[in-house]
Order: sequence, then structure tokens, then C-alpha cells
Amino acid sequence: MNRASEQEALPAGRKWWHVSTVYQIYPRSFCDSNGDGIGDIAGITSKLGYLKSLGIDLIWLSPIYRSPMDDNGYDISDYQDIAPEFGTLADFDHLVVEARRRGIGIMLDLVVNHTSDEHPWFLESRKGPGNPFRDFYIWRRPGPDGGPPNDLMSSFGGPAWTLDPLSGEYYLHLFSRRQPDLNWENPAVRREIYKMMNWWLERGIAGFRMDVIDYIGKQVDQGLVKDGPRLHEYLQEMNRRTFGRHDILTVGECWSATPGSALLYSGRDRSELSMVFQFEHVTQQWDEIYGKWRPKAFDLVKLKSVLSKWQYALSEDGWNSLFWGNHDLPRAVSQYGDAAGYHSQSAKMLATVLHLMKGTPFIYQGEEIGMTNVPFTTIDQYRDIETLNMHRLHVEAGLSPEDFIKGANQSARDNARTPMQWNAAAHGGFTKGVPWIEVNPNYATVNAEAAMTDERSIWNHYRKLIALRKTHPVIVYGLYQSWLDQHPDAFVYSRALDRDRLVVIANFAPHKVQLTLPRELANPGTCLIWNYEPVDTLGENVDLKPYEAFAILCEMRE
Ligand code: GLC
Ligand code: CA
Repeated sequence: MNRASEQEALPAGRKWWHVSTVYQIYPRSFCDSNGDGIGDIAGITSKLGYLKSLGIDLIWLSPIYRSPMDDNGYDISDYQDIAPEFGTLADFDHLVVEARRRGIGIMLDLVVNHTSDEHPWFLESRKGPGNPFRDFYIWRRPGPDGGPPNDLMSSFGGPAWTLDPLSGEYYLHLFSRRQPDLNWENPAVRREIYKMMNWWLERGIAGFRMDVIDYIGKQVDQGLVKDGPRLHEYLQEMNRRTFGRHDILTVGECWSATPGSALLYSGRDRSELSMVFQFEHVTQQWDEIYGKWRPKAFDLVKLKSVLSKWQYALSEDGWNSLFWGNHDLPRAVSQYGDAAGYHSQSAKMLATVLHLMKGTPFIYQGEEIGMTNVPFTTIDQYRDIETLNMHRLHVEAGLSPEDFIKGANQSARDNARTPMQWNAAAHGGFTKGVPWIEVNPNYATVNAEAAMTDERSIWNHYRKLIALRKTHPVIVYGLYQSWLDQHPDAFVYSRALDRDRLVVIANFAPHKVQLTLPRELANPGTCLIWNYEPVDTLGENVDLKPYEAFAILCEMRE
């Protein structure tokens, strides 16, 4: 989508996507139009009315390209075609047009750190050292002991190297062995990728989400994967050769990002990306040894310190992305709220805290109706390659299968990948057939149809937050300040722009909390959003109900 004409009306430094809200769709699990049990593009198009009434501006589509689906589409065998189970290019073009008619742009997932092992480039590359495509991938001779060249590990478990018997050399795969890493040092690889990106840009897309983009500068022989020395050079080249000429939104998935590197990626004079996804608030909850498979107890003081650090660091330059969940993470209300005791209150509280910070909010499908983690009891119910691999490795290493399932119930990626719950019909109305993964059994009560007809639903709360962003510049541009940083249960912050001061107060605990606010926050105002009753006057003493959250807009005296 070319928004250049709208852009011209904005003051310097302001972008249309500052005011936008993005909605992520995991196509396989969103809506199945033909009863084969797999979500598809026609299904997505049929739900544009739903998304329009929610009010979102952009859809980030997880991969829809042709793929053997070893990692559900993050293993691409043809960048310029659509996976047959999702539809055709004509279906995709139709989606773009229909979305645009409703003022919604489509962002694609750009997976260019690796391809599928079925991509024609890899099929050629595999033929041996003389092949012109050999250097499209990363091949090394065996180490001195005949084993892998070094000890780099795959994120999905096991060594990141697989021996190809044909040439006797190893190829690198930082994910599954069916996802060989591209060699970005080869200019021919970069040329091909840029050509492909331009082909999509000409089809009218509104943005790219860039999969593990902090890996493309890797220096394999130094064992260096993230933040390699040429990473920013590649991104600037990519910007120059592709989207720099279009006014789109780009967001890089960067597990390694720090506030410092985020300014390199998204600083206004850097000509790289619009913003990155950083994961510090996610990884601070991981165990030092077992990672996400044995998450630590929730610590609000830590969470606040991470989120506030990012708010302060990017307040003058760069831009934050705001998210609680995505297709790799547990469900927000299960992870940070109380899905059993205070489902609606805690889901609304989380949305309030996130959407009123400075940055562009991302909603993961189903979050807007409070979808929860799925209570699978056996490994056979899981589908995700990461979970299946880790199960095998951990159980081999002595972990009991029950303990593994306990961790998976909290952290497995399939928590986010069960079908979208549309209504109370069989399989939540996701499919008329048999879904590729079981629907969460709570679909009879947690579903979109019920949410849309209930004025006090989580869905209507999200809708309100999305609309507020469009009418209150203080939400978009206001200066962020956190308060009561050491309070173990409450999250309090303010935003200030001109004479507007927005105060956001949230209780992250399943019990009542009493706060004493600094005097300067205690002012009368107008309550913009709340999850119990509106609160219009802030005194110095505030009593909060479990998971209560609200935001008050005050006008400051000069
Ligand atoms: C990213 C994706 C994840 C995928 C991996 C490999 O982290 O979000 O789903 O498995 O990259 O492409
Ligand atoms: Ca289908």
C-alpha cells in the first residue's frame, strides 16, 4: 500500500504506522473455508469484516508461501507462490484488494535467513562444490574428528550442522535440518532476495515482518550468529534496493536486540527498519538452564523495569513495537494474567497497559477474545516441530514425560496455534472438517461471536483501545514516565503531550491493592478506559480491585 500522499500531511518524523494497530494472523489456524481442516486465504478474506469492526489497520500474515510445512511455512520452497493448502496467488491478490477496500494493509512474513531444503536453490546447491548455487548456502568440511565443523546448536535442538553424504560436507541449519541457512555473504543471494521482495512490493503489500533478521550477518566460523558485523550493512542495502522507495512498515524479529541495537535498526537516520520486536520481557522469565520449558515465577517489578527501559531508550529516536504474544509465545492471558480466576479482568488489564504505552501495538489472533493456553495432556496432541524435538531430547535425557507436558502447557508454541474460536459450533466454527490441531476445549464460552454481542467483553475493550489511539495524540506521542517502580503488584505510568497528561494504573495481582500515588498524579480528569467502573478523580489513595486497570486523561494547568 502506498501511503505517500497521506504521509506528506504529517509533521516531520511522524509516520502513518505510529497510529496503527497490527493484527497477526497465523493462516493455518485462523479460518478454514473448504473443510480440509487447514485455515486458508479465502478464510481470512471472509473475516475481513470482523477485523474491520475491531478497527485494526494492518494484518501481519505468517508465511503463506509454498512450503513442505516442516515448520508450518517458515520453511519456504518457493518465495513467489502460495502454498496450495492456503490457496493461490489470485486468492492472495483478492485478499490485498479486499483488505485495502476496508483500509487494511497486508504485511508479509519475510523468511530469508533460511529456505526449505526443497527450495530449488538448495536442490542445486546440494549437487556439490562445483554447482553455481553451492555458495547460496553454508557448507563446511567435517571437523578434525569427522564430526560437525563446530558446536553451533539448532534452536530446535541438536547440532546446527547436518552431513550431506553426497559431497561429504556439512550444511548449516540454525533451525530444523529441513531449513538450511542462506549465505548472505554471497551477493547473488542478496540480489535474488531483493528481486523477490520487489516482486511482492509491486503486488501492493503494506509491510514486511522479518523473521530472525538479526541472524543474517552471522559469522559461522567464529561461532557468531546474532548481530554479525555486516548485519546493518545488509539491512541498509536491502532498504536501498527494495522498500526504501515504498512507504511501508518493516519490523525485524530480533531476539538479541538491546535498546542500543534497536536504535541502529530503527533510528531515523539509519535507513534500516521501522522497528524491531525485542524479547527481553519474554526471556527474563526463562530459566537459566531449561529456558522456557521451566519458566520462572512471574515478577512484575522486573517486567516493569524491562518495559520502562525500552520506553525511555526509544523516546527520542527509534520506535517500539508493543506485544504480549505471537505464534511462538504462550497466550498472554495465561502467561501474565489469570485465565482461570479473572479471565476477562486480567485480559483487559493487560491490553490497557500495553496499548497505552508508546509504540505500535500488535495483537495476536484470538488475544482480543482472551484465548488461553491449551490443556493438552499427551505429546500426540502437539504438532510443533520444536516441541516434538525437545520432547524427544528431554525425555532421552531423563525428564519425565509428565514434567515435559507441564512445561509445554505453559510454554509450547502450540498454545498460540490452536484454531481461532469463532463461535460455539463444533471446533469453534474454525472448520467443517477435522482441524489439523485440536481446538481449545473452552471454545463454547471463549469465542468471537459471544464476545461481539457482549458490550463488556474483552473484544469490545480492545476495540475501544484501538479507537482511542486514533483520537488521542497523547497515546501515540506522549512522553512516558513510570511511577512506583518497586511496587510488587501495581503498574503505574503516565504519558504527557502538550497539556494532556494520561495516567495509567493497573493491578497485576488477583487480590485487592492499595496505592499511595505521588501528589502530582492526583488530579481530576476523564476516564478513557476501565475494566470495572470508570474512575474520574484520582486521589492520593487508590484502592484497586483484582486486576483492575484504568486510564485517566487530565488537563494540566500551565
Ligand atoms: C522465527 C519464527 C518461528 C520460526 C523460526 C524459524 O522465530 O517466528 O516461528 O520457527 O523463526 O523460521
Ligand atoms: Ca482449508
